[in-house]
Amino acid sequence: MSIRTVVTQPFSDQKPGTSGLRKKVPVFQQTHYLENFVQSIFDSIAAPQGATLVVGGDGRYYNREAIQTILKMAAANGFGEVLVGRGGILSTPAASCVIRKYQTFGGIILSASHNPGGPEEDFGIKFNSSNGGPATETVTEAIFSRSKNIASYRILDAADVALDKLGETTLGAMKVKVIDPVNDYAELMESLFDFDSIRALLKNDFRMRFDAMHAVNGPYAKEIIERRLGAPVGSVMNGVPLEDFGGGHPDPNLTYAHDLVEIMYGDDAPDFGAASDGDGDRNMILGKHFFVTPSDSLALLAANATLAPGYKQGLAGIARSMPTSAAADRVAKALNIPCYETPTGWKFFGNLMDAGKVTLCGEESFGTGSDHVREKDGLWAVLFWLNILAVRKQSVESIVREHWAKFGRNFYSRYDYEALPTEAANGVMLHLRDSFAGLTGKALGRYSVQTCDDFSYTDPVDGSVSKSQGVRILFSDGSRIIYRLSGTGTEGATLRVYLEAYEADAARHHLDAQEALKELIGIALEISELVQRTGRERPTVIT
Ligand code: G1P
Ligand code: ZN
Repeated sequence: MSIRTVVTQPFSDQKPGTSGLRKKVPVFQQTHYLENFVQSIFDSIAAPQGATLVVGGDGRYYNREAIQTILKMAAANGFGEVLVGRGGILSTPAASCVIRKYQTFGGIILSASHNPGGPEEDFGIKFNSSNGGPATETVTEAIFSRSKNIASYRILDAADVALDKLGETTLGAMKVKVIDPVNDYAELMESLFDFDSIRALLKNDFRMRFDAMHAVNGPYAKEIIERRLGAPVGSVMNGVPLEDFGGGHPDPNLTYAHDLVEIMYGDDAPDFGAASDGDGDRNMILGKHFFVTPSDSLALLAANATLAPGYKQGLAGIARSMPTSAAADRVAKALNIPCYETPTGWKFFGNLMDAGKVTLCGEESFGTGSDHVREKDGLWAVLFWLNILAVRKQSVESIVREHWAKFGRNFYSRYDYEALPTEAANGVMLHLRDSFAGLTGKALGRYSVQTCDDFSYTDPVDGSVSKSQGVRILFSDGSRIIYRLSGTGTEGATLRVYLEAYEADAARHHLDAQEALKELIGIALEISELVQRTGRERPTVIT
């Protein structure tokens, strides 16, 4: 076995986005493409000789091939040991858990999250640091600049490693340990939640469905929900991970999780429904005929956190991404704890959690998590809800309605315009930025604009500044319209429009969100000239 140094040319498009590098599979399959990026990671992270790395992915198409390449490159780059999930599988939160538990140098996660998988679909790769969280912008910038002038990479000439059997092998001088992908994570969940109470709940006439969407969480959910918590077999649906997610879009929302939505809105619906995404870090929570917005879910978990053993001491603080509704802010205020507003993307929560400033974090994009790992965590959110339901013995809907009655309701919705021509999408953003002066102070229907800006964030821990994180139109009553270009799409540009209106009056809390936000939506379309500029009459997805 020898280490080969392969001469290569840089690719110009290896800039990591909101969550790592995401491209279509054929892009990754180009000669040297994956290798260049992996070498750029290794060249940027300065791992000491003999360091331990975690490697795993969501099992999508190209996962196994990529892992073999990464293992051989890790061996050629001086790593001493790699922990890899059996079959190359690790959900994103489980990877974060393993990185932390075994105090490794970091990990490489292969995933394109909620994007479809398959030979013509998406693949992705990202580096997580020793805290278990996505590399900070400083690191991703360094990786990108390295990728622009890389001239060679190192790889070990060796046969593929057997990934399907637990145990240890070697690759040159490096140890490869194939680990159970579920066990460490399941143990962590048992340490946080009251499994006895949840078990008792699931024994009564409470019924639930968890939709794994043919993605990575299938084996995790079966082990935890069906085996350890005793839910009847079949409570986990679409539980066998497939390389192409069964041709579906593994994104847990009302549009894409249609199998589950049909059941939860059908006759004889179960009491609780939930789903998670391709790599297991997102979640959607449903009650009988009832949808919990992710922003509300964060607020609810915060308000009820002490019901779960892992959080009985209370919360240090809460953080939410800027476009996420301010429902959590109201809970933080009532609990007298700080609430931080960060740019979109989980990487901005890491510093706050490491510094002990926050315990719970969340994003409107179906992401919730805590400082138990440094990624958002789909199944964790589901177990947290089950814990709350087991203690409060009320329906999902009544828990949410009580919450609104106490804190008021933040009506919320997001409109996504996917695969737009990049120029048209940029045009909308430019036009909005040019309109700030004219909009400030202006009355628009029953709303009046207080300020407009482009969100900028200064990290309170390391002082780093992240600019241009989304255009905000802030109204005097606390309502908001936010426009952002996605950093995870792989086709053209995706424009997201986020809408939020606060309603204190309980007599209006029963309204449908689209109804309550109707006027704001009209304003959002008008001031952005979105329809004229993009030619799109309707959004691709509404969440
Ligand atoms: C999207 C979400 C963001 C999330 C990210 C990764 O990013 O909006 O909240 O952290 O996926 O799951 P975007 O495509 O908007 O850049
Ligand atoms: Zn994901």
